[in-house]
Amino acid sequence: MTKTSSFTAPKGIPDYVPPASAEFAAVRAGLIHAAHVAGYGLMELPVFEDTALFARGVGESTDVVTKEMYTFPDRGDRSVTLRPEGTAGVMRAVIEHGLDRGQLPVKVYYAGPFFRYERPQAGRYRQLQQVGVEAIGVDDPALDAEVISIADQGFRGLGLTGFRLELTSLGDETCRPQYRELLQEYLFKLPLDEQTKRRAEINPLRVLDDKRPEVRELTADAPLMIDHLSESAKTHFEQVLGHLDALGIPYVVNPRMVRGLDYYTKTTFEFVHDGLGAQSGIGGGGRYDGLMAELGGQPLSGIGFGLGVDRTMLALRAEGKSAGSEARCEVFGVPLGDAAKQRMVLLGAQLRRAGIRVDLAYGGRGVKGAMKAADRSGARYTLVLGDRDLAENTIGLKDMATGDQRQIPLDDAVRLVAAELA
Ligand code: HAM
Repeated sequence: MTKTSSFTAPKGIPDYVPPASAEFAAVRAGLIHAAHVAGYGLMELPVFEDTALFARGVGESTDVVTKEMYTFPDRGDRSVTLRPEGTAGVMRAVIEHGLDRGQLPVKVYYAGPFFRYERPQAGRYRQLQQVGVEAIGVDDPALDAEVISIADQGFRGLGLTGFRLELTSLGDETCRPQYRELLQEYLFKLPLDEQTKRRAEINPLRVLDDKRPEVRELTADAPLMIDHLSESAKTHFEQVLGHLDALGIPYVVNPRMVRGLDYYTKTTFEFVHDGLGAQSGIGGGGRYDGLMAELGGQPLSGIGFGLGVDRTMLALRAEGKSAGSEARCEVFGVPLGDAAKQRMVLLGAQLRRAGIRVDLAYGGRGVKGAMKAADRSGARYTLVLGDRDLAENTIGLKDMATGDQRQIPLDDAVRLVAAELA
């Protein structure tokens, strides 16, 4: 009798199960690898933190904080929030562990789930997976370029090509307040609807990101931050572009780019893929030079990114590519009989100790079923051990691509199989 479960995964949250999960693992590993080779060290942080950390860090006026956080009182009646992003938690940990008093820049990476109560749609999930890096404590345009190039290399290393890097500068504390006033002055004169007017008061930059054609048209001539940068912010941005040119990383300057988090200053960027529909951002980041001080730490600068693992997978698929197509195992063991099984279990363990990926036929199904399982496993070789082979101290080695099978000495099987796979 089969029983159907009435339990399903929470709405808007993807499960990754074999065999597709191999692709997920490969994408995440590929993105992590790019950070690892640049000398970034792992930060493994809690998935929930004090609610105030995110409210203060991400910004009280952002959609993330006002509408999307999973916030609840714990059993001790403290307000906690499932992390909607990684940067605020990293700052908290850097301050708490005094890393900001050691060697600078502090360079860290992280990977894991983040939670946003957004309306689910293709490529937009309520539990999303990111690989992120943060480089804290040195305000150097070359570091901006390094962070951007890590993301670029992470995507390219997976074979992804159809994306573009968009970037801009959001200015610093010496030019942004004046620009904000200038933009508000401009926006307040426009015939905007009430809600948009309110947005212009709270966060005028976000009005420039409005996707409605009528608002786009109205704001077509709005003043842009990039034309009102302070000398130092302008020089910083020009130097970042110079480094990217030297690195051969293509980019498009998009002065209307608006990010969903409030902490950004100066260099801000997004990686966009056109094969994904509305949710086209496969990664994004930027500088956040005021964030650490805002969270009670020293006034250190910082820059980082978060790359979407889920969306990178979708982008690869949109390009007809896949990562992690590697078979589940290299060798599949088929024991025929009880004594053979005991010996095969031992041989499987010995092969694994030699670093070879092995799976075995369990459960005593017949030869036919076991060989079918061997086929499905994707293994390059199958080892077949019957009781007679055991008596003769040999084992059958079958090449799954050609179908050829030969007997090899059982005692020498590990060495011979390793040599075949090399
Ligand atoms: P973010 O742009 O909010 O930045 O998110 C980074 C990436 O996470 C996005 O580009 C996207 O690929 C993925 N992502 C975001 N929301 C979703 C969702 N609902 N479903 C699927 N994927 C999603 C940050 O989170 C910053 N903390 C990045 C950063 C680090 N900036 C500086 N340091």
